[in-house]
Amino acid sequence: MDVGIIGGTGPAGRALAARLAASGSSVVLGSRDAARGQQAAADLVAAWPGRELDLTGGSNEDAARRELVVLATPYEAAAEAAISLSDALAGRVVVSMVNAIARVGRELQAVLPARGSVAATLQSALPRSELSAAFHHLPARELGLLDGELDSDVLVCADTERAGEATVALVESVPGLRGVLAGSLAAAGPVEALTAVLVNVNVRYRSHVALKLSGLRRDRA
Ligand SMILES: NC(=O)c1ccc[n+]([C@@H]2O[C@H](COP(=O)([O-])OP(=O)(O)OC[C@H]3O[C@@H](n4cnc5c(N)ncnc54)[C@H](OP(=O)(O)O)[C@@H]3O)[C@@H](O)[C@H]2O)c1
Repeated sequence: MDVGIIGGTGPAGRALAARLAASGSSVVLGSRDAARGQQAAADLVAAWPGRELDLTGGSNEDAARRELVVLATPYEAAAEAAISLSDALAGRVVVSMVNAIARVGRELQAVLPARGSVAATLQSALPRSELSAAFHHLPARELGLLDGELDSDVLVCADTERAGEATVALVESVPGLRGVLAGSLAAAGPVEALTAVLVNVNVRYRSHVALKLSGLRRDRA
């Protein structure tokens, strides 16, 4: 698949970029500073010699012009970044992996964004794009260690069939990930909020848990 990642130089964007490229996608890692994006991509390619990752870097605008675009900025920056790229993103499916969480003492707590979720806020900021929400619960570290096997479900929320199906296809281009359609963008709030719970579990038990639903029968969808 042809993928761009806005805010791709952070741990989440780099890990997803590496894993998607290792799974056969062509990925552009975007940054506010094109040189930083290029360096981050070059570092990833160098870190995994022999894998021939189709991974390049550039500006966020370069990333926003790919077929499928993932938004991986911090929560506070997401809407502004999206609006600044709205022309490039018009007509495209935009996947938000952004979580709204805040540290309160030793605990992470969910923050309630405007419109109930980051993804719904972004959909309102990008009326010419089709938003989906996915990848919130995958810890960057495990995602980016390409020698490690994944075994996880990824909850996908979207208001349109096109956005949902394209996002599930992106998820399932990665071996070990199963995409599960979990509702409209109205369901993205609880999905984003669950991240705080999973991080607290990880801190408490010094683990790296991933989400896996039992009993799912996708043949009945
Ligand atoms: N880390 C994880 O394990 C994980 C897992 C799942 C989902 N997520 C979510 O994925 C998103 C990214 O996570 P992260 O840990 O990679 O975050 P991060 O390192 O804090 O930020 C990612 C990138 O966003 C860009 N950025 C920072 N401030 C910005 C601003 N004001 N405007 C525009 N771009 C800005 C930066 O790239 P440039 O400076 O190069 O532009 C930065 O490298 C978050 O919303 C997080 O909740 C994280």
